[in-house]
Amino acid sequence: MDTIGTRTIETERLILRRYRVEDAEDMFNNWTSDPEVTKFLSWPTHTSIDFTRSLLTKWVSYYEDGKTYNWGITQKGDDRVIGNIAVVERDERTCSYELGYCLGKAFWGQGIMPEALRAVIDYLFEGESDLQRVYATHDLRNPKSGRVMQKAGMHFDGILRGSKKNIHGIHDTAYYSVLRSDRLTQEQYEALFEEMYPNFFENEYVRNIPEDETVSEQILRLQEFDPGCYEKYFRENVTFGYFDGDLEELRKDVAAVVGHWPQFFNENSRIYCGYIDGRVASFCLIEDFGEHVVNGVHCKIGGPGCVGTLAEYRNRGIGLSMIRNVTQILRDEFYDYSYIHYTYEPQWYGLLGYKTVLRWNGRGYIRDEGKQ
Ligand SMILES: CC(C)(COP(=O)(O)OP(=O)(O)OC[C@H]1O[C@@H](n2cnc3c(N)ncnc32)[C@H](O)[C@@H]1OP(=O)(O)O)[C@@H](O)C(=O)NCCC(=O)NCCS
Repeated sequence: MDTIGTRTIETERLILRRYRVEDAEDMFNNWTSDPEVTKFLSWPTHTSIDFTRSLLTKWVSYYEDGKTYNWGITQKGDDRVIGNIAVVERDERTCSYELGYCLGKAFWGQGIMPEALRAVIDYLFEGESDLQRVYATHDLRNPKSGRVMQKAGMHFDGILRGSKKNIHGIHDTAYYSVLRSDRLTQEQYEALFEEMYPNFFENEYVRNIPEDETVSEQILRLQEFDPGCYEKYFRENVTFGYFDGDLEELRKDVAAVVGHWPQFFNENSRIYCGYIDGRVASFCLIEDFGEHVVNGVHCKIGGPGCVGTLAEYRNRGIGLSMIRNVTQILRDEFYDYSYIHYTYEPQWYGLLGYKTVLRWNGRGYIRDEGKQ
C-alpha cells in the first residue's frame, strides 16, 4: 500500500500535528500520567516525564519510515498537545487500519475526539487509494469510547469476546468500522449510473417523464443482505424458480403489467418467477450490470429488472419474496451489489434493505433535499 504518513490535519477547532520531543511535559500532564485516562488502554500510567520523553523520542524517530500515523491533538491557537490519535494496527492483506486514541480529561465532553477521529478517517481514505477499511475498538466496559466512534459515524460491527488485552487483562471488545464503500457520494453514484446507462437523460422517453414524478435508483451491498429479513407464510400453493415455460404466454402476462416490457423477456434473458398452483403470479429478470470501480471500490453489480406481479395476485407477498430470492441468488453468485434501476417503489424494495442512492425525473438528478 502507498502510504502518505503523518501530515498536519486541520479541522474546525483542532490542529492534528506530528509530535516533537518537547511535547513531553504537556503529554505527561494532560494524559499519560492520569490513571483515569489510561484506565482502559494497553499501557500503564506513566510515573515520570522522563519515561514519556523517551517514548516520544522513539515516536518521533518512527516518522522517518513514511508509514507511521501518529498525531498529537492541539486546539487552534494553542500548540500544546491535549491528546493522541494514531494508527495502532495495520493489515496490508485486507488494506485495513485500526485507530486508537486518548484525550486529556480536562478536554472530555466537548466533541473533540469525534472531530479528530472523523478528520483522520477522511485523511486516510482520501490520501490512500488502496485503503478499504478503518476500524476502532473498545473494551466493552468503556462505552464512552464507543460513543466517540458512533459520533464519528462509524458502523457497529459487533463484539468479539476475549479478543484484546489491556492493563486489566483479556477483555470482550466492541468493533466499529468504516468501509470505503460506506463513503460513496452522490457524485460517485452519478458517475456509476452514467457508466451503466450512458446518456440516459437524452432518451426521449426519459425526458417525457413529468417533473413531479420522482424515480429512484437503489443499491444493496450483498454481503450485508439478510435473507431472513422478509418471511411470508403462504396459504396458497406458492413456489418460486427460474422460468422454463412458454415464453409467448409469459410475454402476454408481462404486457398486462407494463405494456413495453415484453421485448426484454426473450430466450437469452434470465427470468425468475413466483407461481401460484404452477401459474405465473410474479416475474422479473435477473440482470448483470457488469463490473465497475467506483472511487477505488470494486463492484460486481447485478439486480432484478422488469419486476411485476399480475394485478389479481398482488399484495400477497409473492413479489417481494421473489425479489428476496433473486437478491439471495446474486449474493450466492458473489455479486458485490444488487442494483434497482428506475423504480417508483423505493419503499417496497427498502423492506429488503435496498437504499436509495439517486433520485431523478425527466429533467435530471434531484440533488440534496429529501434524500432517504
Ligand atoms: C410493485 C409490485 C411488483 C408489488 O408486487 P406485490 O406482489 O403486490 O408485492 P408484495 O405483495 O410482495 O408486497 C409485499 C409487502 O410489501 C408491502 N408493500 C406493497 N406495496 C408497497 C409499496 N408501494 N411501498 C411499501 N410497501 C409496499 C406490502 O404491504 C407487503 O408487506 P407485508 O407482507 O408485510 O404485508 C406490483 O405492484 C407491480 O407489479 N406493480 C407494477 C409494476 C411495477 O411498478 N414494478 C416495479 C418496477 S421497478
